[in-house]
Amino acid sequence: THVVTQPCFGCKYTDCVVVCPVECFYEDEKMLYIHPEECIDCEACVPECPVEAIFHEDNVPEDWQEYIAMNAEKCDDLEVITEKKEPLAEE
Ligand code: F3S
Repeated sequence: THVVTQPCFGCKYTDCVVVCPVECFYEDEKMLYIHPEECIDCEACVPECPVEAIFHEDNVPEDWQEYIAMNAEKCDDLEVITEKKEPLAEE
């Protein structure tokens, strides 16, 4: 699976959701998460993120390892996001 990490926090550019073929992004107030059982590792979202927040779980930088479990845990309680919206970050 792929994982959304720290750079997304407070950003939420949401370019990633538009290209996802399986609609596996979930959203809370601060960032997005990828559902590990729904992600098919197509990697379409990886180059779309302007802040490079998305990594394969095997390539998550050391400081952000906790995001692997966080993505899995958060998704169950959140709504799917499939359309781009205004980012939190200033562009
Ligand atoms: Fe976040 Fe990047 Fe998507 S900032 S919402 S992972 S495009």
